[in-house]
Amino acid sequence: MRILFIGDIVGGSGRRAVKTQLPELKRKYDPAFIVVNGENAAGGRGITAQIAKELFELGVHGITMGNHTWDNKDIFNFIEEEARIVRPANYPPGTPGEGMTILKNKAGKELAIVNLMGRTFLPPLDCPFQTIDSILDKLKKKQKHIFVDFHAEATSEKIAMGWHLDGKVSAVVGTHTHVQTHDERILPQGTGYVTDVGMTGARDGVLGMEREAVLQKFKTQLPIRFTADEGKWQLHAVVIDLDAGSGMAKKIELVRRFETEMIFE
Ligand SMILES: [Fe+2]
Ligand SMILES: [Fe+2]
Repeated sequence: MRILFIGDIVGGSGRRAVKTQLPELKRKYDPAFIVVNGENAAGGRGITAQIAKELFELGVHGITMGNHTWDNKDIFNFIEEEARIVRPANYPPGTPGEGMTILKNKAGKELAIVNLMGRTFLPPLDCPFQTIDSILDKLKKKQKHIFVDFHAEATSEKIAMGWHLDGKVSAVVGTHTHVQTHDERILPQGTGYVTDVGMTGARDGVLGMEREAVLQKFKTQLPIRFTADEGKWQLHAVVIDLDAGSGMAKKIELVRRFETEMIFE
């Protein structure tokens, strides 16, 4: 079973990247499930019902979120009803929405997706390690295919989570930093892992935001509001193949695409 996961979609550039590239990515990889991180899809801040609908219409099966989950207030209008969107599972009990959901595709296959958030340089949520342990207890080995998006800042916290979950889930991928790391691997017990999948949005901004405003903030230290950069896009993603029998990863491959063709790598 193959999963295509697209890293943090930022603003209009990121959505344009997904819209223009997904048909070809589907042809090339033929994924059983397409999951995206949508925490920045609405102008860099949160997601709206309309944007989620557009992503689902493009063939996305599930959406994970992160620290920007609540930035666009529209989320409160639909997160309780939309079972295909997960927000970090380690928010306190009573937080709207769910942190784990089981996706089903047209072929009847199932994939459990979990969103967790790190606590290093991010709000102090409940312990993500204890949270995933109790989720796995609930799944009680009924779900063979389990995909975890660990939305965290510190590389060390993400690597630690990879080790914590090695052999227990199909894949752990990091999001949030918006910078793709080239440490993709299959851990010894069979879990596919990468520290950060990267960002899908404007390539010439700063992490998808308009660069002049970010530069001004660094230079002046004044409070400046950032807007999403609407320039040429990059698309960062990962493709993971899972073994149908064991549910563990067989192969993990990073994907990087750019709108401009004048790129020499
Ligand atoms: Fe993000
Ligand atoms: Fe984030």
